[in-house]
Amino acid sequence: MTQLLRSRAELRAVLTSLPRPVGLVPTMGWLHDGHRSLIRRARSENRTVVATIFVNPRQFNRAEDFSKYPRNEARDVQICAEEGVNIVWAPPVDEVFVPGFDTTISVGAIAMPLEGAARPGHFDGVATVVAILFGLVGAEHAYFGQKDAQQVMVIRQMARDLALPTQVIACATVREPDGLALSSRNVHLRPAERAAAPVLRQALLAAAAQWRLGERSGEALRTMLRSTLAGVPLAQPEYVSVADALTLGELDRIEGTALLSLAVRFGSTRLIDNELLEWPG
Ligand code: PAF
Repeated sequence: MTQLLRSRAELRAVLTSLPRPVGLVPTMGWLHDGHRSLIRRARSENRTVVATIFVNPRQFNRAEDFSKYPRNEARDVQICAEEGVNIVWAPPVDEVFVPGFDTTISVGAIAMPLEGAARPGHFDGVATVVAILFGLVGAEHAYFGQKDAQQVMVIRQMARDLALPTQVIACATVREPDGLALSSRNVHLRPAERAAAPVLRQALLAAAAQWRLGERSGEALRTMLRSTLAGVPLAQPEYVSVADALTLGELDRIEGTALLSLAVRFGSTRLIDNELLEWPG
């Protein structure tokens, strides 16, 4: 049975009666098959699964993006029930950021480039809310999508530095048949934008193919990413990156595992995606 809870007190009380280990799946709702895959992994590795649905105002650097974020709680709860989630915690804002709340968790270097540079304050909001969720749920495991690769790295750094016992587990990106990564934001794409959006994946795969053929110049791969995107006029790149997979520093030469990533606007919708180039051995 899935219990829908709103307050911190209810969450804590119900959790004490449920078996461990606990798997946490933090979400902002508008659940799709990517979330289902996180929940299924959590279900398979834990005796209790908690999903949270909270559109976190602190991680939107534009108020408009926050108000536009798609919401359908009844459908989300239904999906959680279908997937065997034990607790759905869908709190109001003041149960997360309690009155007088005055703490910001600001992760350092790993949060600075890419999404951190493009969306000032975004990762402070993410790290702060995830720390609260980790504290409240006290899960053994928490599950996040690899589509937001930098977010996973920021959360890992935060959990390690604050000695939070929750293990951060990254799960493979789930894609549409044409390669578009599932994202709650895809709903905002107009038909022509939706038709153009698989170019993110195509650009990543073209650059990855060059790398597999032996190309080791970061700039050559960035050029490949840019030129594939340039073939689709509706795609307005915000950044393309070929970075060290541990530090996210941009690479001149690829001499270890690298992360290709990009952020692209289609009209008013901003999409991101990435591909890991795993160094052999
Ligand atoms: O990835 C998301 O949906 C959000 O950033 C998260 C991790 C739920 C924090 O609000």
